[in-house]
Amino acid sequence: MTTQMTRRSVLSGLIGAGGLAALAACGGGSTALRRPAAGALPTISTTGRTRFYGLTARAARVDLGGTVVSTWTYGGGVPGTVLRASAGDRVRVAFHNELPAETSVHWHGLAIRNAMDGVPGVTTPPVAAGGSFAFDFVVPDPGTHWFHPHTALQLDRGLYAPFIVDDPHESGAYDHEWIVVLDDWTDGVGRSPEQIFAALKSGSASTGGAAAGTSDGMGGMGGMGGGSMAGMGGAGGAGSGDVAYPLYLINGRAPTDPDVLRARAGQRVRLRIINAAADTIFDVALGGHRLRITHTDGYPVRSTTTRSVRIGMGERYDAVVTLGDGVFPLVARPVAKSGVAPRALVRTGAGAVPAVTAVPAELDMPPLTVADLHAVAGAALAARTPNSTQNLVLAGSMANYVWTINGRTYDHTVPLAAQAGQSTRLRIRNMSMMSHPLHIHGHTFQIGPAGGTGPRKDTILVPSMGATDVDLLADNPGKWMVHCHNAYHAEAGMMTRLEYS
Ligand code: C2O
Ligand code: CU
Repeated sequence: MTTQMTRRSVLSGLIGAGGLAALAACGGGSTALRRPAAGALPTISTTGRTRFYGLTARAARVDLGGTVVSTWTYGGGVPGTVLRASAGDRVRVAFHNELPAETSVHWHGLAIRNAMDGVPGVTTPPVAAGGSFAFDFVVPDPGTHWFHPHTALQLDRGLYAPFIVDDPHESGAYDHEWIVVLDDWTDGVGRSPEQIFAALKSGSASTGGAAAGTSDGMGGMGGMGGGSMAGMGGAGGAGSGDVAYPLYLINGRAPTDPDVLRARAGQRVRLRIINAAADTIFDVALGGHRLRITHTDGYPVRSTTTRSVRIGMGERYDAVVTLGDGVFPLVARPVAKSGVAPRALVRTGAGAVPAVTAVPAELDMPPLTVADLHAVAGAALAARTPNSTQNLVLAGSMANYVWTINGRTYDHTVPLAAQAGQSTRLRIRNMSMMSHPLHIHGHTFQIGPAGGTGPRKDTILVPSMGATDVDLLADNPGKWMVHCHNAYHAEAGMMTRLEYS
């Protein structure tokens, strides 16, 4: 089955995302690249097409919209080079590590074969400084995905980029596509991620001390909210993050010099929103507009119209908007944090640029959350009684900054078990005063019981003291990370694995 991309080419809203082009080559699909076909496990239907990419991690000077920093990047820009393929394509990525440190690349949201998952010590060897790795996998699932390192706190530098997988069967009823990547930023402005982590561990964080101490007027920012400011915000945002960042970005731009997205009034735009932040949940709205949510974490949902949407670290939401005439702020307000909300400007006509601190009225109402969404028929897992149930108790505290799953930090974890081809239920209980975006590799789960109407996702924001059951089909054998997508919580131990063969 060979499928050409028939949709008109789409415009990316990313600035500086050019760089390496994909070289499409025709060749036979390789069965060896499919998931192991054991028993009832499905194989991936391939297009027979291979896309070749080069990807380099390297230090670079990056202009974040008025603030120039030295940081670590994919390809020299922030966000990094967009990778793109169609579902069923074989993707080969020649990765080079020009960083002064060991690194790794994890393909977040892609249920690819285990050996390519990019977790050092679990699935894929680390890539030494100066080293290379040849990734080679078939991308099974369409959607808005992304990639980042799975090494220590490197995610909190500039190492992140979108990975878009097009659905060859989708009509694409929109005129433009804009990728919108959210981030919280400290590297080269405030303290390094390692300094922040050390402060959190030592407890100095909870006093709100430890200023950024830079010479550019940012002193005093980049400190910790701890249990007071950033940690314990208003209703619904309680315990939403541990770090107050000096900057928040959309598409690598600070709010003072935002990305400008252009279209004509009346046109329809698909937004692909990715939260690449390490420690920040955002509420997203486009001033003067409604968002029609169509997908989350790559999977289609029954379309639901909202003024704003809440997006945790690692999550993605796709929305379609019909544009009005003028200049509109697309704003991502950090939940329970006090920094200036980052924005992009949507420009379809004449109009004044809204003030940097202007927050759209759309953010006055509670945002849409995962509880408001339902899978479209066909995206839901077939109803079945789970063959096994696994508990995931999330706990921890700011006091000693230890975060655990089932009472254990990752170095002492007891992996979760599943059986190939069978259904597994994860009973997630958040026993902490902090919300956690829980992410699983290599799979998507259905929120609520299988056969129900919850959305399919790979990352779910579990509120403070909240609980949810999710079901997954164990159809991709291997050792898979299950962890909180708060980079600091994960580093402090909030990770485990799901394992089966
Ligand atoms: Cu996006 Cu294990 O991570
Ligand atoms: Cu967490």
